[in-house]
Amino acid sequence: MRSLSSYKFTDAFGSTYRAPRAVHSTWRHPFKFTFSDNNERVMMSRLAVVFGGSRGIGRAVSQLLAQRGHRVVVLSRNKETAQVTAASLPGEKHLGLSCDVSKEEDVQRAFETISKTCGTVGYLVNAAGINRDALLLRSKSEDMLSVLHTNLLGSMLTCRGALRSMLSHGGAIVNIGSVVGVKGNSGQCVYSASKAGLEGFTRSLAKEVATRNIRVNLVAPGLIRTDMTAGLEKEDAVRRIPLGCFGEPAEVAHAVLFLLESPYITGQLLLVDGGLQLAL
Ligand SMILES: NC(=O)c1ccc[n+]([C@@H]2O[C@H](COP(=O)([O-])OP(=O)(O)OC[C@H]3O[C@@H](n4cnc5c(N)ncnc54)[C@H](OP(=O)(O)O)[C@@H]3O)[C@@H](O)[C@H]2O)c1
Repeated sequence: MRSLSSYKFTDAFGSTYRAPRAVHSTWRHPFKFTFSDNNERVMMSRLAVVFGGSRGIGRAVSQLLAQRGHRVVVLSRNKETAQVTAASLPGEKHLGLSCDVSKEEDVQRAFETISKTCGTVGYLVNAAGINRDALLLRSKSEDMLSVLHTNLLGSMLTCRGALRSMLSHGGAIVNIGSVVGVKGNSGQCVYSASKAGLEGFTRSLAKEVATRNIRVNLVAPGLIRTDMTAGLEKEDAVRRIPLGCFGEPAEVAHAVLFLLESPYITGQLLLVDGGLQLAL
């Protein structure tokens, strides 16, 4: 029988590799580990870039990453809010930048600034998102474009920007989808399409970059207590959630961190929804 080590394969970038399993034995842990005084394995600090990191779920992700000792770049359209959030994080050298993910030149400029001032990106989280909920017949074209450009195109642009930095060192990406991207919801046709698109994008990109030691996963939250859901009629919504309450941003952040730090998970969708998917 042909030994596994004699196999060759070519990745999406045209590079040829031998012995993928042997290579994987070192690649599975893309990020170097160090050992603490009591001999526990500790992940070394990485540069984490969080789009939509100023408020809500992205803010909770930024806080958790900073608590774990990572340096965080917080980005949102509102520079002041991004800077206030960055300044509130534990640890030093966090940065708050302005960036509209729906604008290619903004995303390009952000990554130029990041690479000049902070170095190589290890983690990328795409939490920037908007909703313009309406029945399709009542949806305005400009709102449809805003939702698609922010939620779907925006994540594509930021992933492309981060990959340029990650290709040589590996990395991990988590996109934020939604349970309605999986299940659909009346009144959210455009929003759910943007989130369903993210699922296909995440799986395809995971295939494209796996050989470069870059993992790409999707967290799909249900109803989470943030500005985005502030206007919802809570009692009605809660009745549909099997676990009986809205989720907290920190609960989504834990799932994001889990996927960022799990060296053998890629192309995965993780619902964080209190069981809402069971009821839709
Ligand atoms: N909350 C939920 O129940 C829920 C459920 C499922 C999925 N999600 C998804 O989770 C993600 C975070 O939602 P959230 O509830 O935390 O919302 P949020 O509290 O409204 O926060 C949204 C964040 O995205 C930023 N943002 C919006 N548009 C942007 C743009 N064009 N460019 C850059 N940053 C932008 C906002 O800052 P600026 O306004 O300053 O730009 C803010 O930091 C979104 O993708 C959302 O679709 C949320």
